Amino acid sequence: MDNRPIGIFDSGVGGLSIWKEMVGSLPNESIYYYGDSRNCPYGPKKPKEIKQLCANITKFLLEKNCKMIVVACNTATSIAISTLRKSFPIPFIGIEPAIKPAALHTKSGKIGVLATLGTIKGDLFNATKSRYTENIEVVEQIGHGLVELIETGKGESEEMEELLNEYLNPMMANGVDKIVLGCTHYPFISNSILKIIADKADLINPAPAVTQQILRISDKNQLQASAPTSPEYKFYISGNKQNFEQFFYESFSNFDKEIKFLKI
Ligand code: DGL
Repeated sequence: MDNRPIGIFDSGVGGLSIWKEMVGSLPNESIYYYGDSRNCPYGPKKPKEIKQLCANITKFLLEKNCKMIVVACNTATSIAISTLRKSFPIPFIGIEPAIKPAALHTKSGKIGVLATLGTIKGDLFNATKSRYTENIEVVEQIGHGLVELIETGKGESEEMEELLNEYLNPMMANGVDKIVLGCTHYPFISNSILKIIADKADLINPAPAVTQQILRISDKNQLQASAPTSPEYKFYISGNKQNFEQFFYESFSNFDKEIKFLKI
């Protein structure tokens, strides 16, 4: 049994889609979230810079005594997780676009992936793609500008609608019937996406698979918190703390546990 917190990070608010799932499935665990909104977006950055940012965040979370780290960012996972695993002696759980379930369940043989430039160019994504999509057509689309709009509270704006139409209509015209949300920010715009894809395609959200993996790794390494505990939820924000907090309460208005938001 281990009551140290689980660390989780993302370039900003996106990892909250994983955090929410974790709070529900791991009710005894304290969770410390690092939102690197000062350096958001990661997607267009050079791999070297992303690796450095991820290493700095990992050091920070280790100083806060975290027992494992969830890389709740597809871009950071794709670019940096193997280096992190080599450099730090704790378990890392990453998130990858859910190509495998999409490829298994498509009926049209065509799946769409909406993700950042960093994820789509990353080795991990390309290795997963060649492993699971031999006879499947994968239509890739970089979500230029989407993360920035979500971070600035414009998730439901005309600008967002225009971009989503531009990115998704060609996929629909091509006969894609599964869309993989390959960025942890995108579940927060799923309503707008669903309006466009209507009954032509389904969305695949990988968050539940991540919590399953956390459970497996905790079990294997005997890292589960002992019950009953009163878990601590902390958020360390490198950029605009007020924006982050506002996004949090707009997204999870019913959340009634104690939370601390800290500017770093
Ligand atoms: N939430 C992120 C991801 O899953 C990062 C997006 C970004 O900062 O570009 O890829």
